[in-house]
Amino acid sequence: MENNIILIGFMGVGKGTTARAFNKKYNTYIIDTDDLIESKENKEVKKIFAKKGEAYFRACEQEVADWIESSVQGSFISCGGGFYTVKNLKKLGTIVLLDASFEWIHQRLKNAKNAKAKLEKRPLFSKEKEAKKLYKEREKAYKKLADVIIDVENLTLEEQLKLIAKAAKLA
Ligand code: S3P
Repeated sequence: MENNIILIGFMGVGKGTTARAFNKKYNTYIIDTDDLIESKENKEVKKIFAKKGEAYFRACEQEVADWIESSVQGSFISCGGGFYTVKNLKKLGTIVLLDASFEWIHQRLKNAKNAKAKLEKRPLFSKEKEAKKLYKEREKAYKKLADVIIDVENLTLEEQLKLIAKAAKLA
């Protein structure tokens, strides 16, 4: 993979699922920005939010972005839903957006086997009304930043993987 793939999109749209499937199919490893922050802080994201606040978490995301810019090449990077606000996002690689309506995402989270855990680990999704407001605020920004937009509502996982592989120049 020549360039980094930077996978962005709203909480619960399926970045983790798509990234893991990509991993399996193309025998790559995924860098997950939330995982990097959790391991550095030795705390779960929801605990970082509760104990240190959102601004601190966003500063951690900027640090990760700076590290990617200086040190990571040819990798697949799955980003937290708010990671798009880092100031150097466009310099990190090819931006791939997983896109779906808020209603579809909400339904997906509610229908998941481990729905409670999925919602609990995302402090910004705890209230539906506020999550929807956040979605509306971000929708345009996500699309503006994206080099490739993947409509996950209407594509199979296999079709999504093909589009990402194309963006990564793997297929
Ligand atoms: C956030 C999304 C989360 C996580 C944090 C904040 C956001 O990641 O980074 O809870 O601001 O949208 P996921 O998109 O993987 O849920």
